[in-house]
Amino acid sequence: MSAPLATVILAAGLGTRMKSSRAKVLHRVAGRPMIEYPVGLARNLGSERVVCVLGHQADAVRFVVESRFGARSVDIAIQAEQKGTGHAVQQAADVLADHNGLLLILYGDTPLLTQTTIQRLIDTASAGILALVTCTPPSPKGYGRIVRNEAGKLTRIVEEKDCSDTERRIGECNAGIYCGPARFILESLTHLQPNNSQGELYLTDVVEAATHELAVATIDAPVEEVMGVNDRVDLARADRMMRVRLAEAHMREGVTVRDPERLYLEPDVKIGRDTELGPGVELRGKTVIGEGCRIDQGVVLSDAIIGNRVHIKPYCVVSDSTVGDESQVGPWAHLRPGTVLEAEVHVGNFVESKKTRFGRGAKANHLSYLGDADVGAKVNVGCGTITCNYDGYAKYRTVIEDGAFIGSDTQLVAPVTVGKGAVVGAGTTVYQNVPAGALALTRSKQINVAGYADKKRKEMEAKAKPAPAKAAAAAKPKSNHKTKKAAAGKRERPRTRA
Ligand code: UD1
Ligand code: CA
Repeated sequence: MSAPLATVILAAGLGTRMKSSRAKVLHRVAGRPMIEYPVGLARNLGSERVVCVLGHQADAVRFVVESRFGARSVDIAIQAEQKGTGHAVQQAADVLADHNGLLLILYGDTPLLTQTTIQRLIDTASAGILALVTCTPPSPKGYGRIVRNEAGKLTRIVEEKDCSDTERRIGECNAGIYCGPARFILESLTHLQPNNSQGELYLTDVVEAATHELAVATIDAPVEEVMGVNDRVDLARADRMMRVRLAEAHMREGVTVRDPERLYLEPDVKIGRDTELGPGVELRGKTVIGEGCRIDQGVVLSDAIIGNRVHIKPYCVVSDSTVGDESQVGPWAHLRPGTVLEAEVHVGNFVESKKTRFGRGAKANHLSYLGDADVGAKVNVGCGTITCNYDGYAKYRTVIEDGAFIGSDTQLVAPVTVGKGAVVGAGTTVYQNVPAGALALTRSKQINVAGYADKKRKEMEAKAKPAPAKAAAAAKPKSNHKTKKAAAGKRERPRTRA
């Protein structure tokens, strides 16, 4: 391989056009703060050192970078005042004092850069020259222009604000990404002068120096890749492109994605073959999905571990939870943190769980809350069952042992245990342990009062009877069977058409 590599990532700017109280590089692309992309790229390329130059909200950005990559894998240099890109790289000089290899310079706000492009750049620079990335955007506005002589050799880079009329018409632009000998770059930086319209120290002047003292080569990259994120429109575009890129990588590995533009997924997500993802599915964090699963429309999985051949029906939310092989969840189920479904579990519509384990083959098919519970294998939890796990001060556990049957509309007042194979009758409030094999019932005895309802109805109808005169008028259309039918027909017809 080539010489050792160090990377400087420029991210001190505020990003005024984001109109945000948050630093630009902390805005998210495919669920991850933008700054993570160049840092991750540098590390994947084997960069021995990664220096982030931070200014605006340096502490917040540092926190994000260090939590993701570890404090020891990234160095932070502070640029208190933003005096230009050259000045920014100067701030990393101390950290790089003993680095004699190549120096790669990236921006914190270009998340779409690919490893392939940067590897090409590094390979080019390996010859001991300064290599830079160029692009030809539809409109070069705002970019530094690449000025070449008649022989086609790059002579300098001129910023839009310093351009002559002829220079402004140049289409080839500087992407702002460089790689070259670290000693040369850092040495040239010490000679920079702010003799330009912005009074800044321009990193681009190092390129001009290299044309005299070294050699310069350019590599051309697609605009989409080098496009910086400057405002929220750019952010949405970068986000969509990154998600589609991730979705395509999964599709190539055997995942069916029914609507790639509407799949929201993050870079760390893992998905097995023959799994099918519906529209509007959101896969966050370190979610792992096994093989042959079906994840239907609108499902949101955060840090979820899903086994093989699992079917998650529409609009379920699963967070920090595990779903075992061949289980079925939803529609509209909410598995909150700490839920564990072992294999072949069925959790149906409007079931919420939290810190609850379901043993193999357990079922809770309708309308239940199961919190802080241990549900054994083959347990059937009837519709409307509630674990009363909180007394206003503390949480308590409910244990339902293997094979127990919990009748509909049961409240389990924790701490409480329902023994193995026990039956709880519908409508029971269980506040004492139920022994294995027993029947628990707290229902009060039912009373049937013969004829009561009929008698009551007659009484009420007699009271509601209108006065005789009004009754005659009201009775008229009622007595005419045909009129009533016709009127009903008239009302109905337009409705069916609409
Ligand atoms: C720079 C290049 C320009 C190129 C463009 C590509 C210079 C002089 N110009 O433009 O040729 O076409 O990038 O996008 O280099 N930053 C700092 N500290 C500073 C200034 C900038 O950290 O003092 C960071 C910003 O946060 C940003 C990056 O450097 O991530 C680029 O800064 P920006 O102001 O967008 O670049 P320009 O100078 O406009
Ligand atoms: Ca920019």
